[in-house]
Amino acid sequence: MASWTVWLMTALVGLTTLVLVSWVLDIIKRWRMPPGPFFWPIIGNLLMFGGQFYLTFIELGKKYGDVFSLKLGMRDVVVLNSLDVIREAFVKKGADFAGRTHTMTGDLVSEGRKDIVMGDFTATWKLQRKLFHGAVRAYATGHTLEEKVQGALNEVIAEFSSMVGRPVDVEDHIFKLVLNVVCSASFGHRYKMEDKDFQFLLNLSKEFFEIGAQGMLADIYPSLGFLPTPTKTAMAKGMGEFFEYFKRELDRHVQTFDPDHLRDITDHFIQLQREAEDEGDEDIRSLTDVHFRQTVIDIFGAALDTTVQTMRWSVLLLAAHPEVQQKLSAELDSVVEQDRQPMLSDRTALPYMDATINEVLRFGIVVPIAIPHATTVDTTLRGYEIPEGTWIMPNLWNVVRDPEIWGDPDSFRPERFLDDDGKVLPKPSALLPFSAGRRACPGEPMARADIFLLLGGLVQKFKFSLPEGEVPPDLTPDPKGAGLFSIPRPYKVMMTHRK
Ligand code: HEM
Repeated sequence: MASWTVWLMTALVGLTTLVLVSWVLDIIKRWRMPPGPFFWPIIGNLLMFGGQFYLTFIELGKKYGDVFSLKLGMRDVVVLNSLDVIREAFVKKGADFAGRTHTMTGDLVSEGRKDIVMGDFTATWKLQRKLFHGAVRAYATGHTLEEKVQGALNEVIAEFSSMVGRPVDVEDHIFKLVLNVVCSASFGHRYKMEDKDFQFLLNLSKEFFEIGAQGMLADIYPSLGFLPTPTKTAMAKGMGEFFEYFKRELDRHVQTFDPDHLRDITDHFIQLQREAEDEGDEDIRSLTDVHFRQTVIDIFGAALDTTVQTMRWSVLLLAAHPEVQQKLSAELDSVVEQDRQPMLSDRTALPYMDATINEVLRFGIVVPIAIPHATTVDTTLRGYEIPEGTWIMPNLWNVVRDPEIWGDPDSFRPERFLDDDGKVLPKPSALLPFSAGRRACPGEPMARADIFLLLGGLVQKFKFSLPEGEVPPDLTPDPKGAGLFSIPRPYKVMMTHRK
């Protein structure tokens, strides 16, 4: 036998043995972990996941219960499939479950996990998140957000006005509208649709949504990370341009910073960072320029697609439920004069609007399995062992669609959030579109303020309806959202002027 054949045979036998040994070790490790389906060597349970992860999790939950284990490629995953178990892990044992997964995609977009979304649960990260949370709250409750959102909205109202009376797919318009809202929140300025920078951000964001939804093979097979795949190369190039763009914007911000005139979240963050420095906070020195840039990039990464898809759900659900839309516009008319747009100070006087937003967030739940967490230490849950570094996926979808909690979860019914007198009930703990615990969405105040102003402004001006003679729309999520997002299927609506 030629010597290369011997080498090849030896290599094959060695590799097979390695695969089999690691498979057996994985099976032994699974012994004390939550139960779960049989998994194959190398691919684990990948073959089970054709489309939406959260739907497959519901099926698996019927057999394995509220907490079960899986293998995605080489990664150990534990799924939390009910409200109780999610609260037990994320709230009662918050710190143990507050890590993030380490993946190639995550590392690339966050310059080595220097942002909030992908950052490890460290002292630096806690400070970064605290400052960010403070900056978002300050921005979301001030007048600047209101002015910026209303400005962006006026442009889209003008566009929609030219489209009344014919079926329109509003996706691109909503995307541009929210991109401008998000640009204003990060850099304080809006772009014209034809601006070069605006088009750059628009195209890049769309591209990343698609890559982000799919992830990369090396995310579940880390040993393939060295391969220069086309997705990795395209992503690294796009990210390079993106980082440069942000660096320019942030330099400009620091140079023109004026503490008496805070323009956006970035300014609020700079202000809070300087206050922490003045107070001699020890950890502040660990926050580098890259952390700063990544924090602002998070606004784009975390706010854009979530708000776009929530707005797409809003328009679709209102068009499909004229009775809800009718009540909403009647309430708006009774509180907001026609010569002005709804303002944040109107919120308390608009309970039906509040309930409708909650119902859209529940029904659409755009991030149905949150962003996967990871355990920070070896820990336990319901008596099972969960090793450090295990990926944790909470099935938020199953909580907001649980018939035992909601009665009729598949109906779109804002009244479920109101009492008999039409007042807003306390927020149910099962309303989890922003997740829970240490990694819950810190952007919730801004998201709610944006959605209120955008939806209020649109419903005040237009009536949305389904094109006559067309089949009723399918209100189940589009499989294109892949494992991570719940997005509406493509749809068209008719708009008519209300007044
Ligand atoms: C409708 C809009 C939004 C929804 C439904 C939403 C939902 C979520 C969810 C489910 C998570 C994952 C939580 C977890 O892993 O347990 C998250 C994380 C995050 N969101 Fe949002 N989000 C929205 C808007 C925003 C906005 C406007 C911002 C910024 C201004 C933002 C910033 C973030 C950040 C920074 C994280 C990472 C938090 C961490 O890792 O600690 N989000 N969001």
